[in-house]
Parts: sequence; structure tokens; C-alpha cells
Amino acid sequence: MKTEFADLKEMHDYAWRLIIRGIVDKKSPARHPTFGTNGLEGMPELRTVVLRYADQKAANLEVHTDVESKKVEELKLNPNVGIHIWFPTNKLQVRIKAISEIKIGSGVIEQWEKVPNGSRVSYGTLPTPGTVIKTPFAYEKPAEFERFCVIKINIEEIDLTHLGTRHTRALYEKKTKWCGSWLAP
Ligand SMILES: Cc1cc2nc3c(=O)[nH]c(=O)nc-3n(C[C@H](O)[C@H](O)[C@H](O)COP(=O)(O)O)c2cc1C
Repeated sequence: MKTEFADLKEMHDYAWRLIIRGIVDKKSPARHPTFGTNGLEGMPELRTVVLRYADQKAANLEVHTDVESKKVEELKLNPNVGIHIWFPTNKLQVRIKAISEIKIGSGVIEQWEKVPNGSRVSYGTLPTPGTVIKTPFAYEKPAEFERFCVIKINIEEIDLTHLGTRHTRALYEKKTKWCGSWLAP
């Protein structure tokens, strides 16, 4: 656990280590980030997702969803997204701005093959997610590869706030090759 950060690179690497942990550790806060999109009517839309992949060097993340979900409709109109994670034990807030890409079909076979059979039913709900239904269980969950969608999240900015002995905040941007700058917290 870090009590304070005095080095920009160290803080950036530390945050990435915590984020990457979310892929393998179901108890990590990074397992379930909040994913923000721009709603069709211009209002923000936030929801919990499972983090499936994270790569510091490429500065990207991946989450999986149903291609018929509302968020995909939103992303087709506006690919700008946000990711938020709070690591209470490490006292670190991660705020990410990114540009998303929707991937379906032959390009996501590799990811689909790694989805356990029991989880594949998350992709194919009938009627489609968000449809009004008459009773709580008036839906079916067949597993449909055609409905499986990978959202690739290409990061543009990472804003870190650490509530250490003293508070520190730093902004890292792709356009400055992630070298970072300190911000007043
Ligand atoms: C713990 C948890 C994990 C979730 N993981 C995902 C996920 O990985 N992908 C996903 O599309 N929805 C996931 N959901 C459901 C979303 O939060 C959301 O309700 C759903 O995707 C519909 O969102 P939309 O209407 O904005 O598309 C998860 C919900 C919870 C509570």
C-alpha cells in the first residue's frame, strides 16, 4: 500500500497494476468498473460491467456485451466513453476517458471461445435487453454468438486521485505519451 506518490511514472504503473488485477481477481474493484456512455437523449448513462481485458502498453481495455443492448446503440452514435473505478483499500480513484470500438463476428471468435458455457447466455436474451415485459421472468436466455459483442476501449486520458497521507492527483494523456502531470487535487 502506498502512503504517498511523488513520482508520476510510479503512480501510473501502480494504477495499471491494480486495473489489470481486475481481470483475474474477482474480488478486485477493477473487476466491476462503472462504464459511462452518452445516452441517446444526451443524458449520461452509467452501468456496472465486468472488465475482461486490460493492456497498459496498448492503453486499452475490453468489456463484453449483447450487441442488442442500449449501450451499443449509444456507442454507434457516440463512441466516447468513461470508466470509473475506486480502489478503497489503495485509496485510489481511476477516471478514464476513451474512444470505443464495437467488435462482432469473426473478429471476436477468440474471445467467445473463452466465455464459459454458463455465461454465454448473457448474449442472446429474448426479447432484447431493455424491452418492457409483462411479468418479471417473461424472457428467455439462449446463447447466441451473433449477439456477442466486444467493446474495445481505447484510452485517451487517465485521471488518478490518491487519498494518501497527503492527497495527490495526476493526469496522463495519450497525446503526451502518458508522461503525466500533477494536478491540484
Ligand atoms: C455485477 C454486474 C456485472 C455486470 N456485467 C456486465 C457486463 O460485463 N456486460 C454488460 O453488458 N452488462 C453487464 N451488467 C449489466 C449492466 O450493468 C446493465 O444493466 C446492462 O448491460 C444494460 O445496460 P444498457 O441498457 O445500458 O445497455 C452487469 C451488471 C452487474 C450488476
